[in-house]
Amino acid sequence: MSLPDIQLFLRPGIIEFGWGNPDADLLPAADLARAAEIALQRRGRQALSYGAEQGPGRLIEALQGWLFREEGVSPPAQQLFVTGGVSQALDLICTLFTRSGDVVLVESPVYHLALRIFRDHGLELAPVAADEDGLRVDLLAEALESLRRRGRHPRFLYTVPTFNNPTGMTMTVERRRALAALAQSAGLLVLEDDVCHTLWFDAPPPSSLWGLAPTMDRGLAAEADRRPAPAGPIVRLGSFSKILAPGLRLGWLSAPPEFVQRCMRSGMLDSGGGVSHLAAHVVAEFMELGLLDVHVEHLRAAYRRRRDGLLEAMTRFLPPGCSWRAPGGGFFVWLRLPEGCDSGRFLSQAEAAGVSYVPGNRFCAGEGGERYMRLAFSLLSLRDLEEGIRRLAGLLESNEFG
Ligand SMILES: Cc1ncc(COP(=O)(O)O)c(C=O)c1O
Repeated sequence: MSLPDIQLFLRPGIIEFGWGNPDADLLPAADLARAAEIALQRRGRQALSYGAEQGPGRLIEALQGWLFREEGVSPPAQQLFVTGGVSQALDLICTLFTRSGDVVLVESPVYHLALRIFRDHGLELAPVAADEDGLRVDLLAEALESLRRRGRHPRFLYTVPTFNNPTGMTMTVERRRALAALAQSAGLLVLEDDVCHTLWFDAPPPSSLWGLAPTMDRGLAAEADRRPAPAGPIVRLGSFSKILAPGLRLGWLSAPPEFVQRCMRSGMLDSGGGVSHLAAHVVAEFMELGLLDVHVEHLRAAYRRRRDGLLEAMTRFLPPGCSWRAPGGGFFVWLRLPEGCDSGRFLSQAEAAGVSYVPGNRFCAGEGGERYMRLAFSLLSLRDLEEGIRRLAGLLESNEFG
């Protein structure tokens, strides 16, 4: 048997709602090949050397321009740092800023594989519940107070406020402001995982937490036509995985300059240079050619069709007692099952019936989530989205989940 080249494996006969991966047909292989060829021809010496610890200057400049076009504000160069994607950034942050046994606050439900990274570092996870308006900032204040009484200070809060994985929900502007203010007053570092911010379908989401954080003009703010960038205790994590290709292993973070400096001084970067350096050159070329803006537009339309197809099938086929909310972007719908259903207990029956998903409890650091499942629509064709929902509906109607 040959060894696999990729992480994704699809099981014949099963419609997989479980994988939150981009559809391979939407990966821009030809345009990336063109960008790679130009990058190697024109900048081969730089692209194939050990990279600058912060990431290549040309990618940082391209990112500044792109973020400004997308959001109307962009970090000064000293507040940007090129990462190997959100997962690598989280791992690096845990390495540099935590010790085993430290406590960290995590939104609940939240991206389950980030929880795995935190557990790899021996961190204690303290969940803070979210509702359809995002993380409950009142409960965060209570959690901080309860930790304080026990003499503990969390190293950070991890949250996915925009098109949350798994719920698809987006935090309101009021809550964002309240969270940014609380973080500032409590001295709480917030890791804002913003992997899907630009993948909106109906209207652009509210400004990131980073964009709403109290502004501190440290004399680093960019050109006159750009708003001064915030430098509060928010670290915003971005990625090219969903908007370009996950195999690039490339992302970025925006953070206060001293945070960026600490990342740059890590032993790993000192030894190996900037991460994913060749990929960073290729993507910088891709952006300089103006291809990213066009590609993201194309993705929005393609994933919007899938979201709509999934929601339509859910409305048509799912029995009473099921409920969900339409996500305004991202890859996921969070399905609430009728009373008494446990999505974890019945995964094997569902797979035997040809449909799979991720059970809701995997996204909760504490209790909860049993009555939910995460359905990813990014990978499946319209026909499979419909057929998968028919299969789920059949199971629910025959009480197999009960
Ligand atoms: C919320 C969230 N964060 C991070 C990741 C992984 O990001 P990356 O590929 O940049 O490591 C994902 C991938 O599904 C995700 O949904």
